[in-house]
Amino acid sequence: MTVRKIIKKYPELEIELLLARAISKPKEFLFLNPNHQLSGSQFKRLAGFIQRRQKGEPIAYILGNQEFMGLNFKVNSHTLIPRPDTEAMVERVVSLVKSWNSKKRKIKILDVGTGSGCIAIALAKFLGKQAEVAGSDISGRALLVARQNARRQGLKIRFYKSNLLNNIKGDFDVVVANLPYGWKAWKNNTRVETLGLKFEPQIALFTSQSGLREITRLTKQVAALKQKPKAVFLEFDPRQKARLGKIAKHNLPLGGQVFHKDLSGRFRFLELLF
Ligand SMILES: C[S@@+](CC[C@H](N)C(=O)[O-])C[C@H]1O[C@@H](n2cnc3c(N)ncnc32)[C@H](O)[C@@H]1O
Repeated sequence: MTVRKIIKKYPELEIELLLARAISKPKEFLFLNPNHQLSGSQFKRLAGFIQRRQKGEPIAYILGNQEFMGLNFKVNSHTLIPRPDTEAMVERVVSLVKSWNSKKRKIKILDVGTGSGCIAIALAKFLGKQAEVAGSDISGRALLVARQNARRQGLKIRFYKSNLLNNIKGDFDVVVANLPYGWKAWKNNTRVETLGLKFEPQIALFTSQSGLREITRLTKQVAALKQKPKAVFLEFDPRQKARLGKIAKHNLPLGGQVFHKDLSGRFRFLELLF
């Protein structure tokens, strides 16, 4: 079958990306060579991709990578697929740290629940010498991917296996966390848009207490630190805003709260300043 025929047959599957990968060519090749005939092995490869995609598997897992903040990240079934929702939080951390203009020492940042390492790596990339970034996750398998991603970007980032802050030593100026914040009702949602969620690590997506268990635990752990960070950033679901505000006020009463929106205009992360 030719490139042109395949694109016509599967318009809904982001077929161009799968097709380009199946024939190991850049996407542009498809438009320049619509009459290219797939070899038997290329077609077999493509058929495998199509089958996975039709079952709802996210394209990022099929291709094995996802773009975040303009950087390319390896992902697999042990890591959440980085979301554009998280980019606004990274941008805010970058601008806050830059505004401190710290010349004497590097600002120490910890990304809790780092997954593919996307937040830690983007921060290290965009803050350069101004920051020393570390990442942590409860999943050793996710950390393997995070380490690979850091190496790919030529960055030295320390990654810790830790249940929240349990195994973390040392002080940090900034703690940033995109922890699981999904809850049961969300989990049982079977709309087409959420079909892909069942392919992602459940530990990365869901937790108890209406999705706020890990975030609440983290605020308590931060409260117990001898040396408090100057800023804490927490990503959440827009529907959790009021509850999270109360939890943060209770556990971290000295933290000035600023709620920020994501790039699609929905409240998405809380900044606590000390
Ligand atoms: C929503 S994902 C975020 C991944 C990545 N930071 C991102 O933005 O794409 C949450 C991550 O938190 C990790 N996680 C869940 N519970 C944790 C805990 N108690 N301590 C540390 N990490 C945890 C999961 O393994 C997962 O990698």
